Amino acid sequence: MARRKFIAGNWKMNTTQSGALALAEGLKDAIGGIDAMDLAVIPPSVYIPAVVEAVKGSRIAVGAQNMYFEESGAFTGEISAAMVQDVGCKYVLLGHSERRHVFGETDELINRKVKKALASGLDVIFAVGELLDEREADKTLEVNERQVRLGLADVSAEEMARVTVAYEPVWAIGTGKTASPAQAQEVHAMIRKLLGDLYDAKVAGATRIQYGGSVKPDNAAELLSQPDIDGALVGGASLKVNDFTAIVKAGL
Ligand code: PGA
Repeated sequence: MARRKFIAGNWKMNTTQSGALALAEGLKDAIGGIDAMDLAVIPPSVYIPAVVEAVKGSRIAVGAQNMYFEESGAFTGEISAAMVQDVGCKYVLLGHSERRHVFGETDELINRKVKKALASGLDVIFAVGELLDEREADKTLEVNERQVRLGLADVSAEEMARVTVAYEPVWAIGTGKTASPAQAQEVHAMIRKLLGDLYDAKVAGATRIQYGGSVKPDNAAELLSQPDIDGALVGGASLKVNDFTAIVKAGL
């Protein structure tokens, strides 16, 4: 089944208001008219309204980097799914390795967020990935399987139509060390097979699985040509109009 490619730029805790606007406007000009794939930018939450405004009229969607699963109330510092939607986001990124490892988010917490996001009508980019010592201990498949099983627990087959999985080996994030296309393909195929076990062949065939971890203009084409790699979640290289544009064009 043909899956539409999906490339998203995770800006993390970077940019200023004017820098975010310039980046968004630059991307709108460079790639805002592309309709052969889905595109999204994921700015820091305080800049979301400005970025939504800046990319209006283009095909670039906007996502949030995080949200909390409660509806509203005394949760200082958090934002809700409704808030994320209210300011114009289509997507929310959940399960990112920095949320897991810097902020101690567990599979259970991530699962609550995933369920809330989907129930609220958001699309989810759900990230998984093994640490270097887990890969070296031959636990890559086991760790990714656990994260997928627990993170997507109680997510229905119907809701899976709004979930993109992002495989991001933690040792490749921000390190300049990319997984080889074969290493990435192996895990992507495993995740797809697991989705077949957890759901059915239709969900497995339709779910997009992005690769993330030091995706750059010079390695994007080969990664994106793997049979089970359906797009990219780009960190560092998404902060430059030219680099992100080159990565997107490599996927066309
Ligand atoms: P990177 O980050 O492209 O800078 O390695 C990827 C990510 O964390 O999504």
